[in-house]
Amino acid sequence: MQEPDIAAVQAHLLSAIDAAAALDALETVRVEALGKQGRVTQLLKTLGGMTPDQRQVEGPRIHALREAVTTAIATRKAALETAALDARLASERVDMTLPVDAAPTGTIHPVSQVMDELAEIFADLGFSVATGPEMETDWHNFSALNIPETHPARAMHDTFYLEGAGSNPDDRERPAVLRTHTSPVQIRAMLGHKPPLRIIAPGRVYRSDWDATHTPMFHQIEGLVIDKGITLGHLKWTLETMLKAFFERDDIVLRLRPSYFPFTEPSAEVDVGWSTVKGRRVLGGHGDDKGGGWMELLGSGMVHPRVLEAVDLDPREWQGFAFGVGVDRLAMLKYGMDDLRPFFEGDARWLKHYGFSALDMPTLSGGVGAA
Ligand code: PHE
Repeated sequence: MQEPDIAAVQAHLLSAIDAAAALDALETVRVEALGKQGRVTQLLKTLGGMTPDQRQVEGPRIHALREAVTTAIATRKAALETAALDARLASERVDMTLPVDAAPTGTIHPVSQVMDELAEIFADLGFSVATGPEMETDWHNFSALNIPETHPARAMHDTFYLEGAGSNPDDRERPAVLRTHTSPVQIRAMLGHKPPLRIIAPGRVYRSDWDATHTPMFHQIEGLVIDKGITLGHLKWTLETMLKAFFERDDIVLRLRPSYFPFTEPSAEVDVGWSTVKGRRVLGGHGDDKGGGWMELLGSGMVHPRVLEAVDLDPREWQGFAFGVGVDRLAMLKYGMDDLRPFFEGDARWLKHYGFSALDMPTLSGGVGAA
């Protein structure tokens, strides 16, 4: 048998590996060397026909060759891959500092816009944004809010129950319902942070209801303030300040009407006055019967002592107010839609007409009501 010149084979293969300019060329060299019919594989096969003495000499040389070739291929492969990635990054480079050169075709949904506007208004008043799950436990959605299992308010909410979850008024872990309001976020906020607290909680809520002004999913923003010495006066001032900023009118007039919610005491339904200007109804001004009136806008009240107790706060030490307002309804009032259903139909014509530019972020200084 002819003595194979291992050094020559190695030199040849290493230079071929080095010369491989792309991954597929490298793969060809790999098959030539290490494939079933490859040079190195062939050499390894010769070991079987050698005498033990020969094998002791040739074995380590051939194995070293295989080792050297394998390592060289791996190294070259890594280099080629890095080069390919660098080339791709360079070709796909995006310069974020360049101005936008085309008008975006999508729009911001009025619900998102109104939530952003309200977040901006409340941030200015020192509120932070809190969130909670849409699949909520019975305890957070009802029991902790002083709505016991037998309470008629549970039926009033037209609740969607989660399949198989059962309803256990004490279970704080297992989701049992789609939340019927954003009020459970009050509970989560009070459990998660020591007062004083000032939060708003925007989000989706669910009730089994469907007509021109009710959809099974809609949006609310909850507000909660917990501190010492909080009164109804603070509530009224906060809502007035919020609504004046939101509707961008100084003549917004509020009326607090006695109402009932299990989780507030006293509770107040808040109406906003409207008047007739040049034959059109506008928000603002006095709600009297000469071309004006009151429109129901939101629910509110002083946090019920039992709610405070449910989250281990002493009602003699801490008081607070809460309110919940429908975001979709606020959007309809401010931007003039009269049907709620198209909000959720994804009709591109509606979105183009009622949507907002993505580049117009609501700011207090710029006016929260997009240009
Ligand atoms: N959670 C009430 C609802 O959905 C609204 C509300 C919130 C009322 C906070 C009072 C206080 O109808």
